Amino acid sequence: MARAPNVFTCSACGHEAPKWHGRCLGCGEWNTLVEEARAPARAGPASAAQPVRPVRLADVQAAKLARLTTSIAELDRVLGGGLVPGSLVLLGGAPGIGKSTLTSMALGNLAGAGRRTLYVSGEESAAQIKLRAQRLPGAALEVPVLAETDLETVLATLAAERPEVCVVDSVQTLHAADLTGAAGSVGQVREVADRITRLAKARDIAVLLVGHVTKEGALAGPRVLEHLVDCVLQFEGERERTYRTLRALKNRFGSTSEAGVFEMRQGGLVEVQDASARFVGEATRAPGSVVLAAMEGSRPLLVEVQALVSPSELVPPRRIANGIDRNRLALVLAVLGRHAGVGAGGADVFVNVAGGVRVDEPGADLAVALAVASAARGVVAGAGERPIACFGEIGLTGELRSVAHPERRLAEAAKFGLAPAIAPAGAGRGATEAPTLRAALKAAIAGAQRRGSVPAKAA
Ligand SMILES: Nc1ncnc2c1ncn2[C@@H]1O[C@H](COP(=O)(O)OP(=O)(O)OP(=O)(O)O)[C@@H](O)[C@H]1O
Ligand SMILES: [Mg+2]
Repeated sequence: MARAPNVFTCSACGHEAPKWHGRCLGCGEWNTLVEEARAPARAGPASAAQPVRPVRLADVQAAKLARLTTSIAELDRVLGGGLVPGSLVLLGGAPGIGKSTLTSMALGNLAGAGRRTLYVSGEESAAQIKLRAQRLPGAALEVPVLAETDLETVLATLAAERPEVCVVDSVQTLHAADLTGAAGSVGQVREVADRITRLAKARDIAVLLVGHVTKEGALAGPRVLEHLVDCVLQFEGERERTYRTLRALKNRFGSTSEAGVFEMRQGGLVEVQDASARFVGEATRAPGSVVLAAMEGSRPLLVEVQALVSPSELVPPRRIANGIDRNRLALVLAVLGRHAGVGAGGADVFVNVAGGVRVDEPGADLAVALAVASAARGVVAGAGERPIACFGEIGLTGELRSVAHPERRLAEAAKFGLAPAIAPAGAGRGATEAPTLRAALKAAIAGAQRRGSVPAKAA
């Protein structure tokens, strides 16, 4: 039977066209037409469909599925306890961050535990995959590979091999022959993901789809991809740094607040379970450095926040934030100037979370404020030999607001000898409680020793 021709649909207005145009004839938008495979026309009218009796949830037969553990504790935790059979996990991350390494290691461990696995790569040849696997621990070399970009061939192989876990590296490299668009185009990615999903659900294959990210860090391809899969993981960090964090942005089978920390080494990715110890050990006792007691999901994590305040002729001066949100930095600087007497109007301000870690929580505000104030005044925060730890959200009126899990943060700080930590009022034992930013500043840098020069315009 001849296949129906493909249709081009506008992603902005839904207008359909029989061929591609640069501009949608419906709404006038440019570059919005996406190719889609036209489903073959059904035989008979739709009304001939028979109704199905819905089943009460209590009567649904659902065998309790054992999760497949990858033996990479940080990955399993982020997944919510391992891979769920028949589920789709999308793993996104910048080029070279370690997506292929992580998935190869996971498959190697699963293969070593006697699971049927398959590694499909459209990016690298089998020889290149072998080179990587040779430096990885475990049974990475036991994993069967398929270096293929044709979607039909991949689906046929999956159906024949019936692996329990499969990696597709990456969803952007597979190509559906029935669409004319290039691999990686919106229509192609959608089609590839959709057909893999259907097969995975039907055959109970847990699939790890590797996905590229755009320059801005978002997952490349249509948003619908994120809706289609059960779990979206983001692997992030800076390529030049060794630390990488893995977070769940969406998880149908677990919490999205977990994060795993890894380090890239010669022998592959190594889990960093004592991340706080590393970061505290590396923290400096210099003006502009404080330790933030952060929460990475349900786990407390101590990280060093550093600031540099330097006189600038630029108008407006620079505000550079690494590892924290830039808008959050702007807010903290405004409150520091307005309510705590630390102005940085004529200075460039750089803030960096050491180790390439990213903290996306309001609890980081106080650490940023104290680091900036310490840098601006040229004094070391805290009086003793140990760095000073803190956490808390800063309100627009200069008050310190409580954040989640103060007890866990304080316990972590105490574990590394950083008690008492400066925290919002009501934080509890082990805290130097400060109701306002001004009080926190007083506790952290009043009476502290001046080291280094004070930037003229910032002081
Ligand atoms: N011998 C080695 N020792 C240490 N690190 C290495 C070694 N070989 C590779 N790496 C690291 O592994 C990274 C590449 O990892 P990987 O191929 O898993 O990344 P990826 O996210 O899959 O990249 P891509 O998007 O290009 O597919 C390199 O950036 C490098 O940091
Ligand atoms: Mg790769």
